[in-house]
This record gives sequence, structure tokens and C-alpha cells, in this order.
Amino acid sequence: MHRTHIATYFTPEDPDGLRALYAYPENLTHPWLRVNFVSSIDGAVSVSGVSGGLGTPADKTVFGILRELCDVVVVGAGTARSENYGGAVMSDDAQERRVDAGLAPVPPILIVSARASVDPDSRLFRDTTVPPILLVGRDADPVAVANLRAAGADIHRSDNPAVRSIDIEKAVSQLNLPRILCEGGPSLFGQLIADDAVDELCITTSPQLVGGAAGRIATSPHALPTPMTPAHILTDADGTILSRWVRRRPRH
Ligand SMILES: NC(=O)c1ccc[n+]([C@@H]2O[C@H](COP(=O)([O-])OP(=O)(O)OC[C@H]3O[C@@H](n4cnc5c(N)ncnc54)[C@H](OP(=O)(O)O)[C@@H]3O)[C@@H](O)[C@H]2O)c1
Repeated sequence: MHRTHIATYFTPEDPDGLRALYAYPENLTHPWLRVNFVSSIDGAVSVSGVSGGLGTPADKTVFGILRELCDVVVVGAGTARSENYGGAVMSDDAQERRVDAGLAPVPPILIVSARASVDPDSRLFRDTTVPPILLVGRDADPVAVANLRAAGADIHRSDNPAVRSIDIEKAVSQLNLPRILCEGGPSLFGQLIADDAVDELCITTSPQLVGGAAGRIATSPHALPTPMTPAHILTDADGTILSRWVRRRPRH
């Protein structure tokens, strides 16, 4: 056992340093799947059904930086519903940095929904500067799909009843959006783990115990242990721990 040499203090006054710590690998030859979650010390993924109660200033800062660095935000329909998702919001400075880095000014939100059960009147459509992308299951209701397309969504369909990681990779490859940021939720993350498709997990440990009935950050019918190694561990003065884990063995 030894003290880890990759742990350091979280430094919000050095956003360039934080952006460098969370940079995606360069010269990607395949889509890179990064997942981001916040959890309590005792493993709760939510408080009263939403993740907001777990947030801390450091978590919010890194949440924004991760969005700034990605090409696309991927989220399960359950999270989009419970967290009332709208489009990603980027400051003028962030948009400028993105454009300088060769990214679109604002990343679109890609919602994964087997049933296409997304409300076309939701904030995903009303409160956004870029149209959402919908990745739906093979058997999704054609009327629901037509309504979402009419509302402006770019629709992609899986070859299976559920959406698999390969469907996500296919869609983002077609759209040339290789830097993926998946913001959950636990069902979608569980699927991605079961598909052996996760390149990286950024996890915030919120300095609180929660108890209750909240689930953990990933659930799936089958377990698939994936060895990971820490890329960095940051600690903030309030006790927040931000860690970044990457696969020990590349998946491609
Ligand atoms: N702490 C955090 O960082 C964090 C992050 C995200 C979410 N959460 C919390 O997690 C809870 C939601 O959990 P959840 O498991 O319901 O979230 P989820 O994975 O976002 O949503 C589940 C729904 O998403 C769709 N979906 C997910 N995986 C799919 C797949 N492989 N194929 C097709 N559709 C898929 C399905 O939608 P349809 O039913 O439309 O087919 C499914 O019903 C909320 O309380 C939320 O606050 C916490």
C-alpha cells in the first residue's frame, strides 16, 4: 500500500489546468466513451429522485468542463425526464474555446430511449440552441417517432429492441461526434458496462451519507468486471473527491 502520487488539490482558479486534466485522448481512431456521475460516500446516485442534492461547487465546475470538452452529451431517457433536461448551455468564452479546438459551439444532447417516450414539448426541444438527437429502439412506436421528428429531433434507430453501445457508436460515427460524454443514468451506464464499451469514468464522491432507497450508479442484469486504473484524484476543501478512471486495457 502507498500514498497515491496522482492525488492533488482541486484548483478552480486554474481552469486551463482542469481542462488539461480532463482532455480526451488526441488522434482518436474510434469514439471515446466517457461517463460522468456523482455519488454520495455510501453510493447513493440521487436524493429524492434527482442528483442535484449531491452536487458541490467542485462537481459543478467539472460537470461544466466535461460538457465543454465533448462532441455530444449522451443520456438515458429516464434521466432526461427526471432531471428535466434542456440543451447544453455554453458561455461565449466556452463556445470560442470549442470552436478554436475544432468543435461545434454547443454539443447536442443525444437521448437513448427504447420506446421513444420523450415529450416533444419538453425542454429538450424548447430550451436548446441545437436540436436533440434521439436514438430509439427497433420497436419504438412509429407515431411517437414521427412526432419527435416533427418536433425537430434527428432520429436514429437501433437494430435491437434495446439500444446497445454499438448503436451509439454507429450514430456518433455517422455524425462525426467522437468525444462522447455519457451523463447516465444507471440503466444506460449498466448497459454500457455490460457491453464492455466504457473507456472512462469520471466520478465525484459527494462528502455526505444519504441512505434511503436510492440505487447505485450502474445497474444491469449481468455483471462484467472491467479493470480500471485511476488517471487522477482531486480533493476539494469541502471534502469532495473527483476521480477519473480509465480502462486498464484499451477496448479496440
Ligand atoms: N448521480 C448522478 O450523477 C446521476 C446521473 C444520471 C441519473 N441519475 C439519477 O438516476 C435516476 C434515473 O435512473 P434510470 O436508470 O431510470 O436512468 P436512465 O438510464 O437515464 O433511464 C432509463 C430509461 O432510459 C432509456 N434507456 C436506458 N438504457 C437504455 C438502453 N440500453 N436501451 C434503450 N433505452 C434505454 C429507457 O427509456 P424509455 O423508457 O424511454 O425506453 C429507460 O427506461 C434518476 O433518479 C436520476 O436523477 C443520477
